Amino acid sequence: MCGIVGYNGKDSVTDQLLESLELLEYRGYDSAGLATLNETTGKVKLRKCAGRVADLRKICQNDKKISTCGIGHTRWATHGGVNDVNAHPHRSGDVLLVHNGIVENYEELIDHFMLHKELKSQTDTEVVAAVLNKFYQGDPHEAICKTVKYLKGTFALVVMFVDQPEVIYAIRNVSPIVAACNQNGTMLASDVAALGSTADKYMVIPEYVITELHKNEIKLFDLKGKPVEPHFMDIDWDTTRDGKGKYPFYMEKEIMEQPDVIKATMEERIIDGKIDLSGDGVPDEVLRDCERICVVACGTAMHAGLVAKSLVQSRLGMHMNVEYASEFMYGNPVIDEKTLVLAISQSGETIDTLEALKYARKKGAKSIAVINVKGSSIARESDYVMYTSAGPEIAVASTKAYTTQLAVLFLLVGRMAKVRGVFDDGAEKAYLENMVQAPDKMQQVLDQKHDIHKIAREMLDAKDAYMLGRGLDYSILLEGALKLKEVSYIHTEAYASGELKHGTIALITENTPVVATVTQEKLKDKELSNIREVQSRGASVVLFVKDGIDLADAEYADVFTLPAMMDEFMVFPASAALQLLAYYVSMDKGLDVDKPRNLAKVVTVE
Ligand code: F6R
Repeated sequence: MCGIVGYNGKDSVTDQLLESLELLEYRGYDSAGLATLNETTGKVKLRKCAGRVADLRKICQNDKKISTCGIGHTRWATHGGVNDVNAHPHRSGDVLLVHNGIVENYEELIDHFMLHKELKSQTDTEVVAAVLNKFYQGDPHEAICKTVKYLKGTFALVVMFVDQPEVIYAIRNVSPIVAACNQNGTMLASDVAALGSTADKYMVIPEYVITELHKNEIKLFDLKGKPVEPHFMDIDWDTTRDGKGKYPFYMEKEIMEQPDVIKATMEERIIDGKIDLSGDGVPDEVLRDCERICVVACGTAMHAGLVAKSLVQSRLGMHMNVEYASEFMYGNPVIDEKTLVLAISQSGETIDTLEALKYARKKGAKSIAVINVKGSSIARESDYVMYTSAGPEIAVASTKAYTTQLAVLFLLVGRMAKVRGVFDDGAEKAYLENMVQAPDKMQQVLDQKHDIHKIAREMLDAKDAYMLGRGLDYSILLEGALKLKEVSYIHTEAYASGELKHGTIALITENTPVVATVTQEKLKDKELSNIREVQSRGASVVLFVKDGIDLADAEYADVFTLPAMMDEFMVFPASAALQLLAYYVSMDKGLDVDKPRNLAKVVTVE
């Protein structure tokens, strides 16, 4: 959470920073700010405000854009409310600072360094700036080394010292910083997407290494002052954004892209009609020898894990746990060297998932990360990585990342079935025949988006909504409910429909909107009978039903027919329909679909 950026080069820094902050805005959009330092005059300009980067741009529009060295920030508030004063950068004496992370012991530091009178904001960041300033006697390295020894928590700090106008300094613990160098200067940022399209190589700043950003080079030093060799990697995925195209919001564009990105995700992993994970470097022994599988993930990524669990248990007959990464360690999980941990994450930076993965690896587990953003922290921490080919996902609500995660997980389970002797060639072929149909079946749903839009219009005034399903339908709906609540602000809960009578049914009254999916042949009778129970109590039921399932002569508020696939694969068309439902409700309510309130795309604080 929070995006940080620094630029030192030949061009106007204000333009560079604003551009990068726009690319980083999905990490937080409460407030934004930048500080520039003119090397010739030594003058500092600090601009910040509550609101979006667009508001910051307005403030900067009449500035003379002459400085070529500066730092910037887009905030997701942790300590202190959303206002101009709490926005970054923070200045204390000669120090200007932006920060991503949480300094847990900031109150102790206020007492220890007697900072009470000098702080203007409620942020932990200003405390760090003040401590740095206390230690700063003209030697940035000394001040940084002394300061970080006092800090508890996670941090990515980017600092300018007013009397050192030629250099930007950075240091981090856990929270990411990447850096790149091109013919126009040097840059650092919270993620590769913000480095600009001209860089083709980047480095991940190692933890507790002091980074100096000069105009034409990046220097690294350990805390003892010894130079550290930078390790550059290729940027081998397209970080340019081609905008929203013909769509009003990225969310719609990303929903519509799913058939293509799922195909791309499968393409290199299906060779001569067989699942082949050799390109991912995942050895068959890892898949064959594990005795347990455990997923650690958050939010939507965790829901992808739940779908995989059904598959693992039905196809492989293996035990699989799916854990909220944030709860994982507190449950004393049973993990050993026979456990295969799957860490699923779009951003690859979710701190809870990262910490859960580290914990599992310490206990001896082998790990595979299913990640969208190449080179991200979780990808680097894991034994093996399987990348999804979703491409940049800009809308905060995850759509194409989720379904490409599913595609990877389905292929992983398919390969496990093969190497464990569950699938013979014929079974693998039948499984893959279904898998490769998923993009077309989703496309059929997407082609009927106007019908789903009509259904959405009926839900605009709802305060609460419920989603009901059993088995795999329940897992599908957990994600459907998350999507609806996060973008439409309608309080929505998914329930296992068999649980209704144990309490939840008390919430159903006249016209309560209930969304149900009925996609599993063997569960359909029970699901339909649970739906009748809520209908008898006045619920208005919208049904997404697999083509071919007989609804007898029952009546529903709305019925949308999903193209039929083998039950296990119905998650693909059903998810597309539920995503569109959430999208249209949000859009028709006039909300900022791509940036729902209070959220950030990358969650780097616990
Ligand atoms: C919801 C959503 C979140 C993320 C979660 C994990 O639409 O996007 O629930 O799935 O924050 O993020 P990643 O996948 O980046 O680890």
